[in-house]
Amino acid sequence: MTAAPLTSPSATRSDADWWRQAAVYQIYPRSFADGNGDGIGDLAGIISRVPYLAELGVDAVWLSPFYPSALADGGYDVDDYRDVDPTIGTLEEFDEMVAALHGVGIKLIVDVVPNHSSDRHVWFQEALASPKGSDARERYIFRDGRGEQGEEPPADWTSIFSGPAWTRVPDGQWYLHSFATEQPDFNWRHPEVHEDFLHTLRFWSDRGVDGFRIDVAHGLSKDLGEVLPSTAELRAMPKDGTHPLWDRDDVHEIYAEWRELFDQYEPPRIAVAEAWVETPERRARYASPEGLGQAFNFDLMEADFDAVHFRDIVTDNLAQSAVTGSSTTWVFSNHDGVRHATRYGLPPRAGRAVKQGAEWVAAGGPEGGIDRELGLRRARAATMFELALPGSAYLYQGEELGLHEVAEIPDEERQDPAFLRTTAADRGFDGLGRDGCRVPLPWTRSGSSFGFGEGGGHLPQPAWFADFSVEVEDGTAGSTLEMYREALRLRTELQGEETLEWDEALSSDDVLAFERPGGWLSVTNFGAEPVTLPAGELLLASGELAAAADGSAVLPGATTAWLRQSAA
Ligand code: GLC
Ligand code: CA
Repeated sequence: MTAAPLTSPSATRSDADWWRQAAVYQIYPRSFADGNGDGIGDLAGIISRVPYLAELGVDAVWLSPFYPSALADGGYDVDDYRDVDPTIGTLEEFDEMVAALHGVGIKLIVDVVPNHSSDRHVWFQEALASPKGSDARERYIFRDGRGEQGEEPPADWTSIFSGPAWTRVPDGQWYLHSFATEQPDFNWRHPEVHEDFLHTLRFWSDRGVDGFRIDVAHGLSKDLGEVLPSTAELRAMPKDGTHPLWDRDDVHEIYAEWRELFDQYEPPRIAVAEAWVETPERRARYASPEGLGQAFNFDLMEADFDAVHFRDIVTDNLAQSAVTGSSTTWVFSNHDGVRHATRYGLPPRAGRAVKQGAEWVAAGGPEGGIDRELGLRRARAATMFELALPGSAYLYQGEELGLHEVAEIPDEERQDPAFLRTTAADRGFDGLGRDGCRVPLPWTRSGSSFGFGEGGGHLPQPAWFADFSVEVEDGTAGSTLEMYREALRLRTELQGEETLEWDEALSSDDVLAFERPGGWLSVTNFGAEPVTLPAGELLLASGELAAAADGSAVLPGATTAWLRQSAA
């Protein structure tokens, strides 16, 4: 059969639209590669691995925070938004990294954390040194306490990492921190907060950064009067844009300001919102072209490996993107969740898949409770499903190696505040302990920290990391790394318009088949029963195929295959 000509992405995509269907690789810098052997990943390490990223075939890198930080929350507690942490590098090295990435055609997205700074930020230090009622305190959210002596917090709120959301300062006032104690929330009603973030966005844009990932984008705007609602009252309030704390309609005034700045660049700087909202409709506002332009959708990350569920999610999100005009996003793993190879190896259970993984981690990762091989088979199938979808795919470092979550981290070595602020019975951040996906990557099968660096790693790597190292998988037929490389290469070649058509004849409660423009067919078997594939040129499969008696290819369970069919 002769292949039909395929739509070339470069012919249809303007420069300003590079992000619409990008494959974006998330780097958690402290755990990617360590250039100077102090056990902490750094910019020198990233620069040395740019050839690896180029060979992997990603369009962009998203860099989690690399700013000066005491690491109370893995760098999401920022001391200074316009500098590099000295343990990670220098601004000169940052420029060098941008040049190296751009040199191989990879864009760079950096993380911006505007909901809160760290308690070491000069503004928070100034607020502490300034009296109650001062302008310096107004940049954050300070309140008097309740009770005779103000000894009770202003409200009974719990932080997202568990524990109280208000902390008292020496003169008796309290400040709000939605996350860790070391992460005071900004008051976005203060004009200087606006100005300072515009300054920051300009600072990095001028250094050649192509876009921004906006942390907790749904939290910035707050409406807090003198009398604060209780937790019970907050819970009863609808999250319809009027909630005092989350996803308020007026947060979009901030993003309209940012959009104006982004559009002053050529090509315009892009942004993707981390916005935890009630419905896909509410997510749409973050993704609007007048706002940040794109928003994460974590639906697949929260779903079990199930065809019906996956199809609903894809259908809903593509419908939403038709409304906003933005492209949709897909995520299976990131620095906040249990890796998908692990989640998919756990026995099915009602409820959220992510949470289920966290419970397994909290239980110490019992081997009896997991089928690691099945988990990885499914994860590979899910990734190929994702990479065939229209829209952007956000990949997390190490998933291209098929890494599992590391459960075997001794408590005293854990760093995540979501762990440290809780007890075993109450693991914070929605049940997540997040160190297990932040363990330094294995580059070699042996040696100090499996090639992460010369001086060990800041979190312990298990012995089984050797088998998942880049060295073992590089050039090995059928390895997860080679599957990602080939899938990303094909994706770039095959990517056309942002549409798909379900192949109803092939799809069922266990199988999802869809066609992209140009005859690119993706078939995923979520079930256990093998499925006969239609005729066509086999491009790639996430696992071995079998053959039927008549010679046609057979897709086993937990496998995805891509075929090229001639256009009718
Ligand atoms: C986001 C980040 C997470 C961080 C939190 C507070 O959810 O992804 O890692 O802990 O915000 O900044
Ligand atoms: Ca280092």
